Amino acid sequence: MLQVTNIDVAYGDVQVLFDVSLDIKEGELVAVIGANGAGKTTLLKTISGILKPQKGSIAFEDKTISDLYPDKIVGGGIVHVPEGRLLFPEMSVTENLRMGAFLTKNKGTIADRMEQVFTLFPRLKEREKQAAGTLSGGEQQMLAIGRGIMAKPKLLMMDEPSLGLSPKLVGQVFDLTQQINKEWASPCCWWNKMCAIRARSQIAPLSWRMGVLY
Ligand SMILES: Nc1ncnc2c1ncn2[C@@H]1O[C@H](COP(=O)(O)OP(=O)(O)O)[C@@H](O)[C@H]1O
Ligand SMILES: [Mg+2]
Repeated sequence: MLQVTNIDVAYGDVQVLFDVSLDIKEGELVAVIGANGAGKTTLLKTISGILKPQKGSIAFEDKTISDLYPDKIVGGGIVHVPEGRLLFPEMSVTENLRMGAFLTKNKGTIADRMEQVFTLFPRLKEREKQAAGTLSGGEQQMLAIGRGIMAKPKLLMMDEPSLGLSPKLVGQVFDLTQQINKEWASPCCWWNKMCAIRARSQIAPLSWRMGVLY
């Protein structure tokens, strides 16, 4: 479904990714791990079209996407839940969720997807009018994932989804990811720091495959 083939990525003169390849098949749950600074976020941003590879190619559903702008890549079904969540703190839970469906104009579709998100995360329903910035860390992570789901992803990529969460919440976020993967038949990708032992021990049994960036 997603093929990253031998890409090089640099920030100016500083090359970060050297000949990196990654293959994700339909329905898979894949983890990409690596030490701090290994280039996980860089790889993710390159798949999302925010950065462009100097060499190599990226294809999704057999079409080259490495030359497309990020909005076209989201439109094609690749959704990126960024590190640090990047919510709109002054806006309510529902307003943040609606932003995730920015490519859809149909109000009925948006309402249906929001119901699905609320079924998955009942806690967000209870707080639907609350400003995102006043939610707890775990609730904010759920909202960031929920906003990603609002775009109806074919491939959901989450950057450091467990960052700053308590062990119990990390477990919850990972269980929910598995549920999304099963119920939505959408492959999911986790990107986690290898040094986070807790995350590693929880991610490994859940993932179908793991890739290590070094
Ligand atoms: N905007 C940027 N400009 C220059 N260098 C960057 C930028 N973003 C990241 N880097 C560098 O690229 C390397 C990989 O970073 P990153 O992809 O964020 O790693 P990870 O997500 O695995 O922690 C690091 O050495 C980092 O300093
Ligand atoms: Mg990172």
